[in-house]
Amino acid sequence: MMTMQDKQAWSGRFNEPVDELVKRYTASVDFDKRLALFDIQGSLAHAQMLAACEIISSQDLKDIQRGMAQIENEVIGGNFEWQLDLEDVHLNIEKRLTTLVGDAGKRLHTGRSRNDQVATDVRLYLRHSIDELIALVHAMQSALLDLAQHHTHTIMPGFTHLQVAQPISFAHHLMAYFEMLKRDAERLVDCRKRVNRLPLGAAALAGTSYPIKREYVAELLNFDGVCENSLDAVSDRDFAIEFSSTGALIMTHLSRLSEELILWMNPRFGFIDIADRFCTGSSIMPQKKNPDVPELVRGKTGRVNGNLIALLTLMKGQPLAYNKDNQEDKEPLFDTVDTLTQTLRIYADMIGGITVKPEAMRLAALQGYATATDLADYLVKKGLPFRDAHEAVALAVRFAVERNCDLSDLKLEELQQFSLLITDDIYTVLTLEGSLSARNHTGGTSPAQVEAAIARARSSILKI
Ligand code: ARG
Repeated sequence: MMTMQDKQAWSGRFNEPVDELVKRYTASVDFDKRLALFDIQGSLAHAQMLAACEIISSQDLKDIQRGMAQIENEVIGGNFEWQLDLEDVHLNIEKRLTTLVGDAGKRLHTGRSRNDQVATDVRLYLRHSIDELIALVHAMQSALLDLAQHHTHTIMPGFTHLQVAQPISFAHHLMAYFEMLKRDAERLVDCRKRVNRLPLGAAALAGTSYPIKREYVAELLNFDGVCENSLDAVSDRDFAIEFSSTGALIMTHLSRLSEELILWMNPRFGFIDIADRFCTGSSIMPQKKNPDVPELVRGKTGRVNGNLIALLTLMKGQPLAYNKDNQEDKEPLFDTVDTLTQTLRIYADMIGGITVKPEAMRLAALQGYATATDLADYLVKKGLPFRDAHEAVALAVRFAVERNCDLSDLKLEELQQFSLLITDDIYTVLTLEGSLSARNHTGGTSPAQVEAAIARARSSILKI
């Protein structure tokens, strides 16, 4: 016989208590307790609906509200006693409620199951997290704009294959990341729409025989609507997967930027310095200043990508409807939210603390024949077919390489060996500034275009 002590909320049909190890294995309270406030919010809306539909009395509702107010204080104050024996956040709170208010607490679960309850909690949590993350992405975008604004005339080499390709401005380079983050923010906003649907009312899987009003609960909880199918409502976690893929993309973008910051901080580049507060030293090499933060962002991207794969894999073999597998959705999801939150917070500050070294950037742009394409374009404008122009410039570059000088260092007669179309107006074309401002179209590098892009970007952040 089981004693009252051994009793779980569901153990009526069981002949023996659950094995201790199994209890630990199946319990989720250690990690799902962070859903507590959302669980309470969901329960209060459910109770309000039950009372409005006369499924519980208004006195029951008052008792539930009073009990939940106390529980909320206990949770916020850190005095709530979580019990592993009570398995998860839901049963812990329900048990405490019953201790505090008696039978009303036992009536709360009418017309509801932990299956629709947990799906609701996770959606409330995720909606809240998405709202915070959108604000953090915006802060990061603003930090990029603040830095870019001062560097529309700061010339650096643009790379392809990590080889010097064409001159660009540092502002233009930063704005590429602004665009990536803009799409990331849009993805968060879009994903939020699908997160923001109410599962409650689906009960275990098939709905409930009580005369409930799901739309009313949705309204109370600010959901845009209800999940239309009860089986789908309790079982799918595609909204969490979608969010995780957006999270993985955000981290991937920040990881690319991190890789660049690390390279740029290397003295061989010497393009930037990162403020000391984001770096660490070495315990053995006194001269070292390591870009730990960008390195960790790059590293943590691996785990966020892993969380996405974990959730996809969690889902792929599950038959309808709810399976306990789904309890495993939380840790990867929480980890992605936490990692993104911390990363974005630190990153926006780190961008603000970057020291730019325009001289080093300029020198690097001067070293790689970055204006060769401009010379080819110049010849094309004078009537030479592009392929012939390409060939002529390739020979000119080879000539300059042999003399260890830049194209702009060659005398007019030397340049004319490669094409007689070249006249002395070529020297403005071969300057870095000339190259930059020649690309004077939307999305191009000319300072005027980049300034316009920054202005558009500022108002786009305000609009979202
Ligand atoms: N802790 C569970 C989870 O996270 C709550 C739902 C449990 N439902 C059940 N039928 N055992 O998924």
